[in-house]
Amino acid sequence: MNDSAPDAPLPGGLHDYFAPCTLGLEIVVAEELRALRAVDVEVRRGGVAFRGDRALGYAANLWLRAAVRVQQLVLDVPVRIKEELYGSVAEVEWEKWLDVDGTLAIDASVRDSAITHSGFAALTAKDAICDRFRKRFGRRPNVDTEDPHLPLKLTLLKDRLRLYVNLSGASLHKRGWRPIQVKSPLNEAIAAGLLLASSWNRASPLVDPMCGSGTFVVEAACLAADRAPGLLRRFAFERFPDFDVRAWAILKEDAVRRAKRALPFALVGADRHEGAIALAKRSAREAQVEGLVAFTHASLDDFTPPPPPFTLVTNPPWGERIGEGDDLIASWEALGHFLHRKAQGCHAHVLSGNPDLPRLLGLKASRKMPVMDGPIECRWLRYDIDPVPPR
Ligand SMILES: C[S@@+](CC[C@H](N)C(=O)[O-])C[C@H]1O[C@@H](n2cnc3c(N)ncnc32)[C@H](O)[C@@H]1O
Repeated sequence: MNDSAPDAPLPGGLHDYFAPCTLGLEIVVAEELRALRAVDVEVRRGGVAFRGDRALGYAANLWLRAAVRVQQLVLDVPVRIKEELYGSVAEVEWEKWLDVDGTLAIDASVRDSAITHSGFAALTAKDAICDRFRKRFGRRPNVDTEDPHLPLKLTLLKDRLRLYVNLSGASLHKRGWRPIQVKSPLNEAIAAGLLLASSWNRASPLVDPMCGSGTFVVEAACLAADRAPGLLRRFAFERFPDFDVRAWAILKEDAVRRAKRALPFALVGADRHEGAIALAKRSAREAQVEGLVAFTHASLDDFTPPPPPFTLVTNPPWGERIGEGDDLIASWEALGHFLHRKAQGCHAHVLSGNPDLPRLLGLKASRKMPVMDGPIECRWLRYDIDPVPPR
């Protein structure tokens, strides 16, 4: 990292980026970044550092499925006292990032440092930026924590200050297709990350027999159709003074051209909850993948999946957020029954946030991948179901 002028492009016009993600999905995000031709891809705890030009920063926002943000590093310096923090932040050319009439917000986190309070670090950095504008223009930008033109992420770890511009704005899991807030849905970025970490090859049938609002199936459709997850939303970088409209238009046109409109295999969701199925259908419509998926209102006992082999992915209730009580046990037993009777010869991937429930499936997991879902430590369990024995 270039300590003296980190907001300037590195040699070759490259910038330093960081894509945070849910703990457990870092390797998936690193793979996604390599596919986008990012360089110097480095897996860290909770995210992936990488380098690339400005168009790569845009492309990462448009295409990353499992990350929650794309951040560009503008400052990376040792800092022990308030004056050092203020002085180094004040030296950045903020006029390149923000109009004086625009707004900013700083999200700060501090750990193992002489400066111990994140609010104090954020306030000092904000003052440094605003004072720089006041000196140059006699006016200063305002703070807006809801929808700032310039969202910043400040981290102070072991007396090392890293200040990033959040290029994404709202979290990347907000794709723009979920119609309303639903009870206990799976976050879109986690669902996509789990699909990418599964055995599914994106070119064969996939079934979620407890699909709720359909997150896995909609994300699977976007993956299989090569549909960019960011096509339906806007990003913070689109409001930056130096936004490259042309580079962005080229990326989006290419993404629209790539999106397939039909798939020669089934992507199917089912759930016993009629309201959830209505939501799943609406989400598929909003996500523009309606013609690629099918949703059925049926309980596990009544649902007939496509003929095996297919990949099964599902997120049964675990009781942490939706309190289904004793019904939890019945749901997991019903899933076990379904796997034994209707998924012979298939690979199944089941997300569990409760270590006591998976044994009810009566199967031995061949892989247990740890992943966080909010504060809950989960396992993404893989089961290889035996084929029907020959007669
Ligand atoms: C945690 S939610 C799934 C959330 C989903 N992944 C989403 O993104 O919205 C679990 C779902 O399992 C369904 N379910 C529980 N037992 C079932 C059964 N026996 N048959 C079918 N669906 C069942 C519930 O109706 C609920 O929608």
